[in-house]
Amino acid sequence: MTDTIEKLERLDKKRSKEHKEKEILRSSITLKILRANRAANEPAHYDTIEVPVQRSTTVLDALLWAKGYKDHSIGIRYSCRMASCGSCGMKINGIPRLACYTKVSELSGDTITCEPLSNFPHIRDLVTDFSQFFEHHKNMQPYIQNENADIKDPAKLSEFMQSPEDVDKFLQFSYCIKCGCCYAACPTVAMDTKFPGPQALAQMYRYFADTRDTAVEKRMEIVDDRHGLFRCHFAGSCSSVCPKGVDPALGIQLLRGHMLGYSSNEKKIAELKERLKK
Ligand code: SF4
Ligand code: SF4
Ligand code: FES
Repeated sequence: MTDTIEKLERLDKKRSKEHKEKEILRSSITLKILRANRAANEPAHYDTIEVPVQRSTTVLDALLWAKGYKDHSIGIRYSCRMASCGSCGMKINGIPRLACYTKVSELSGDTITCEPLSNFPHIRDLVTDFSQFFEHHKNMQPYIQNENADIKDPAKLSEFMQSPEDVDKFLQFSYCIKCGCCYAACPTVAMDTKFPGPQALAQMYRYFADTRDTAVEKRMEIVDDRHGLFRCHFAGSCSSVCPKGVDPALGIQLLRGHMLGYSSNEKKIAELKERLKK
């Protein structure tokens, strides 16, 4: 079992223990939902709706109850209801979280405030526009690039062998579901929309650290920009809100380490040294 999996399991156990200790049981809560339709120039206001809840009710369940029984027009984006699709990110009591992964029993107070994610253009109610976020992700070229692979000639096709240690270098970063919670929590994104943000930079590190990828130089050029890697303050609010245990601030720091020439990844150091000799 890899270090990353053990770390995630420890986090999961810690989280469930903390949740049990903090659990607050109620029979109903009040949802305070930000409502606005930007296209219709509707000014923002809050609606409050009383919702019956049980021990296992999530914020998404509560919102869907409100939508089903009280006001069909509430705008929410969701799909999987199991913290996998990344669609239901919103600010819950001011913190970016997944609505389907947040139980009402773990939130204090009888009123739960739901607002759209910060740092994303607002569309309607709890729905935001992810176009720029996905554009940043796309700009990182999030796929394996290997100049030695010849996929056109079947005779040359072969397996790329990786050790568990090789996989462990990028594994936690591959758990990202692109929910945007880290992006919403990032103070640099709030100031500079050209900054790729924690999600995209962590994904850059995910491919950079993959031993099957050889596009080291190209990847460094993409993030070495005045709106790039060095705009991050490393305060880590991105990592503290990630619902999937990804640590984007760590990925960014490791990427910066590689760029500055210090790192525990010998293979990449060797590649960088080779580059410097040219
Ligand atoms: S790093 Fe975490 S918070 Fe950020 S988009 Fe990925 S899953 Fe969401
Ligand atoms: S550590 Fe960097 S990327 Fe993460 S929230 Fe802070 S400034 Fe943004
Ligand atoms: S509905 Fe898919 S992550 Fe919440």
